[in-house]
Amino acid sequence: MKQLPVAILMTLSLLLTPCLTESAKFKEAPEFYNSPECPSIKEEDMICSEEGVHVAMTLDTTYLRGSMAAILSILQHSWCPQNTFFHFVCSAASDNKTLLHATLSATFPYLNFRLYPFSDDVVSSIISTSIRAALDCPLNYARSYLPNLLPLCVKRLVYLDSDLVLVDDIAKLARTPLGDTHVLAAPEYCNANFTSYFTPTFWSNPVLSATFAERKACYFNTGVMVIDLERWRVGEYTRRIEEWMEVQKRMRIYELGSLPPFLLVFGGDIVPVDHRWNQHGLGGDNFRGLCRNLHPGPVSLLHWSGKGKPWVRLDANRPCPLDALWAPYDLLQTPFSLDS
Ligand SMILES: *[C@@H]1O[C@H](CO)[C@@H](O)[C@H](O)[C@H]1NC(C)=O
Ligand SMILES: *[C@@H]1O[C@H](CO)[C@@H](O)[C@H](O)[C@H]1NC(C)=O
Repeated sequence: MKQLPVAILMTLSLLLTPCLTESAKFKEAPEFYNSPECPSIKEEDMICSEEGVHVAMTLDTTYLRGSMAAILSILQHSWCPQNTFFHFVCSAASDNKTLLHATLSATFPYLNFRLYPFSDDVVSSIISTSIRAALDCPLNYARSYLPNLLPLCVKRLVYLDSDLVLVDDIAKLARTPLGDTHVLAAPEYCNANFTSYFTPTFWSNPVLSATFAERKACYFNTGVMVIDLERWRVGEYTRRIEEWMEVQKRMRIYELGSLPPFLLVFGGDIVPVDHRWNQHGLGGDNFRGLCRNLHPGPVSLLHWSGKGKPWVRLDANRPCPLDALWAPYDLLQTPFSLDS
């Protein structure tokens, strides 16, 4: 292979990386088939099927390449890929639903999916102005509205971020027992400093800080969640999350955007998901070029949470070692092949 000078590669990657344009082309993924043991579900029943696995993800132009890789990884490691239904939420304002639909259908011609436009107005009025600057995307908040967006017949789903790949059967994660009352299961981290997710204003207010008085609340990751939609709807958890966002608007009780309201409502009341389903932090710290290693223990899901994303680092020709585990799921059709 002829080596292209590094300077040219860097320039090309700078041109290509910031975000995908509408002309981004993806390779067609192969068809994946159920194992003989899988229940057979009629196509028209799929969206409401309790035997199938329901997955929800948000789709936006910037992370589309990550989402495509995540979808491929889910199908590839599923025992019953044809019984998987994807519920995609896209921004009604900035994304083109027609184009997204066409891109998905061309890349995954056999995918069971539906696209739900999410109106930014739903949250923009209650997102506090203080954090609006840091807020890249109202779609971050869409996960709080899934029970209202999806058809009532969908009772349980797995919500996933776009910067991850699965290397195990998602059905195992989807089957996480939620007990008699729990609404949510997520990877929980009790060693994280929970205090730091809220401001001194919050902790010094006796009424507010009493929220956690009777609960052993721990930080949990909202990028990998199993949600009982029926219990969520009955308990009106969307409204409870919005109420905390209203409080945040009046007095600054946290610094981050969409995560703290989840901690406020569900902290100490979730089913912990085995950490194998969230080998997190692989994004590391892009500015210092820090690469993270895997945490000890088994791996079912690799999560590039943090500032660095594998596709950006691969394009820049400065990948972290573990980015090699993401690369096989990349469906982006590169304009030219570097290794031919
Ligand atoms: C959306 O994409 C379709 C297909 O490329 C195009 O025909 C249409 O004009 C686009 N609409 C908007 C609002 O950009
Ligand atoms: C946890 O975070 C709070 C607020 O950021 C800080 O004051 C405290 O010292 C931290 N505790 C530990 C054990 O690091």
